[in-house]
Amino acid sequence: MTNDTRSTISLRVNDVTYRLNVDNRRTLLDALREDLGHTGPKKGCDHGQCGACTVLVDGRRVVSCLMLAVAAEGGEVTTVEGLAGGGDLLPLQEAFVRLDGFQCGYCTSGQLCSAVGMLAEHAEGWPSAATDEVSPSCPAAALTAAEVRERMSGNLCRCGAYPSIVRAILEAQG
Ligand code: FES
Repeated sequence: MTNDTRSTISLRVNDVTYRLNVDNRRTLLDALREDLGHTGPKKGCDHGQCGACTVLVDGRRVVSCLMLAVAAEGGEVTTVEGLAGGGDLLPLQEAFVRLDGFQCGYCTSGQLCSAVGMLAEHAEGWPSAATDEVSPSCPAAALTAAEVRERMSGNLCRCGAYPSIVRAILEAQG
């Protein structure tokens, strides 16, 4: 149901479908946190600059503070709460824990979702600004520390845990 200012939508989050009546201007982040109680995605800057609110929509990373909830209808939204299947942590999550890929943890849910999306992008052969050579005949660049830093540059960490975050992602990439 839609009127001038509100819409009733279906949102599929972590394999569960929810019906919501939302203001058309409500962000996906606010719908996730305040309407559905998924508080993993964090509201850091609310301007798409820090990455703390990163989630996956159809496997692609998005900053959920810049996406309208109505635009996510029909997509598969995955928050950090939905990354681990059946209670087992992903190797990436285990690596973050073992290698201290965080201090306060505020950015961590965004870092994890972004890293999952980034590793998929890399596996599909997407280049980054740090990729030396880009051509259809060129095999995907190896995932170096420089590549990880560039590809994760949209996720800020105010504690400066970057060296451990990069180490954890490199270790988990296999
Ligand atoms: Fe504190 Fe990244 S661990 S902001």
